[in-house]
Order: sequence, then C-alpha cells, then structure tokens
Amino acid sequence: MSKQVVIIGASRGIGEELVHQFAKQEDCQVLALSRNSKQMSEVFSEYPSVTCVTFDLDGDKVRETAERIFAGVDKIDIIINNAGKLVNKPFLSLTAEDIRSCYQVNVMGVFSVMQAALPKMSAGAHSVMISSMGGFQGSVKFAGLSAYSTSKAALASLTELLAEEYKESGIAFNCLALGAAQTEMLEEAFPGYQAPVSASQMATFIADFSSSAHQWIKGKIIPVSLSTP
Ligand SMILES: NC(=O)c1ccc[n+]([C@@H]2O[C@H](COP(=O)([O-])OP(=O)(O)OC[C@H]3O[C@@H](n4cnc5c(N)ncnc54)[C@H](OP(=O)(O)O)[C@@H]3O)[C@@H](O)[C@H]2O)c1
Repeated sequence: MSKQVVIIGASRGIGEELVHQFAKQEDCQVLALSRNSKQMSEVFSEYPSVTCVTFDLDGDKVRETAERIFAGVDKIDIIINNAGKLVNKPFLSLTAEDIRSCYQVNVMGVFSVMQAALPKMSAGAHSVMISSMGGFQGSVKFAGLSAYSTSKAALASLTELLAEEYKESGIAFNCLALGAAQTEMLEEAFPGYQAPVSASQMATFIADFSSSAHQWIKGKIIPVSLSTP
C-alpha cells in the first residue's frame, strides 16, 4: 500500500518544495493543503499522486474541516505541519488580532489538525512540526518577532506533550526548529538577508527526516540551522 503524506502549507516556499520531493517518490500519495488550491493545482498538475485541497488554519471549524478532508484517505503515514504565519512588529504595536491570528495559524490550528489526523495514524506514522530557531530555548532572539517566535515555541512544546500522551501508540512526534531558508517569509522577516540554504535544500532535509528519522528519534525538538538568523 502506498505511503500517504499530508503537507499543510504546501502552496509556496518550503512546503511547495516538500510536495515536489514526495511526489517524485514511488508509492507515495500526497495531500497538499493551503488556502490557495488553485495555485497548487497548477504547480502540481504534472503529478497524478498529488491531491490539492483548500484549507485555512484560520477558517471556521478547522477541526471539522480537517476531519472531512482526512475522511478521504485510509491512513496518514507522515503529516508535516509546515504552514506558518509571520507577524513582524514592535511589541507595543501588536494588535490583539495580530496575536490571535498568529497563534491561530501556528498553534491552535495545529491542535485542530492533529485532533483530526490522529485517528488516521497508527504505529510507524510520523508527525513532524515545523518550528523555528526563534522559538528554540536559548537561541538568539530578534525584535519584532515576539508573537511569531512564542507561537513556534508552543508548537515545540506541543510535540513533547503529544509524544508523551501517545507513547504507547508507536506514532512518532518530532519538531524541527528551522534556521533561515530563502523564502518569501524569510524576506518578510529579514529583508535583504541571504540565507545559506534554499527552500529546496531545506525540504530535502525535512523529507528525508520525515521518512526515516522516526525509527531513531521520538519526541525531540531538533535545531536545523547553519546561520543566525
Ligand atoms: N523560511 C525560513 O527561513 C524559516 C525559518 C524558520 C521557520 N520557518 C517555518 O517553516 C515553515 C515554512 O516557511 P516558509 O518560509 O516556506 O513560508 P512561506 O513561504 O510564507 O509559506 C507559508 C505556507 O503556509 C501556508 N499558510 C499560511 N497561512 C495559512 C493558513 N491560514 N492556512 C493554511 N495554510 C497557510 C501558505 O499557504 P497559503 O498562503 O496558500 O495558505 C504557505 O504555503 C513555516 O512554518 C515557517 O514558520 C521558516
């Protein structure tokens, strides 16, 4: 039976590259989710193994929507919570809406997705959270990123909590705290900065990690960074 991979935040940047990489593997079906399914359907039109579905982590009834989407697959072998919302503003300028939407996409939405996904996952499955070095304890911190980086820290913590709660299930939960990779989000966070890693290179690491590391690593938060930021 082919491997079922779910990638959330698949329309651009690292998520788009992840879809390309999994779609080229034999025996791999990919469910690609983001708000922009029209763009995804165009970009991934060459792959019969990729299904693109509109999904908004900041929409209505996120858990129910995810349950409806996952009802279309028998099982989930790999789920990569890659979607992310950046808010880059001085602390006193942050509005309640900035903070809410950042936490909704980066944290609350992931709770809902995992509540919908876990009934489809069993021993040998792997959940990978995509966090940031900004949310990694002891790392260099940057002004303007308080909402974003604390939300990414929550995602790391959620990984450890899920690993504990599901320790008897054989499902692995890991979290990658990414350093800079060249994407639109990086340009928004650090205008003009040139990352030492492309989105495609970062996706290669994440795809390999998601496919095999769960045999050796469970419940861990792993920094994946060549640079600061
Ligand atoms: N690039 C870096 O240097 C870096 C460093 C550390 C961590 N990260 C993390 O790595 C992940 C990927 O980053 P990236 O740089 O590739 O970002 P990106 O280019 O901004 O892409 C973000 C993806 O998230 C999706 N997304 C955003 N809001 C969404 C929502 N409400 N519902 C569903 N999907 C949503 C976007 O799709 P739509 O707009 O189509 O919905 C897009 O596919 C993020 O979690 C980010 O925080 C990146």
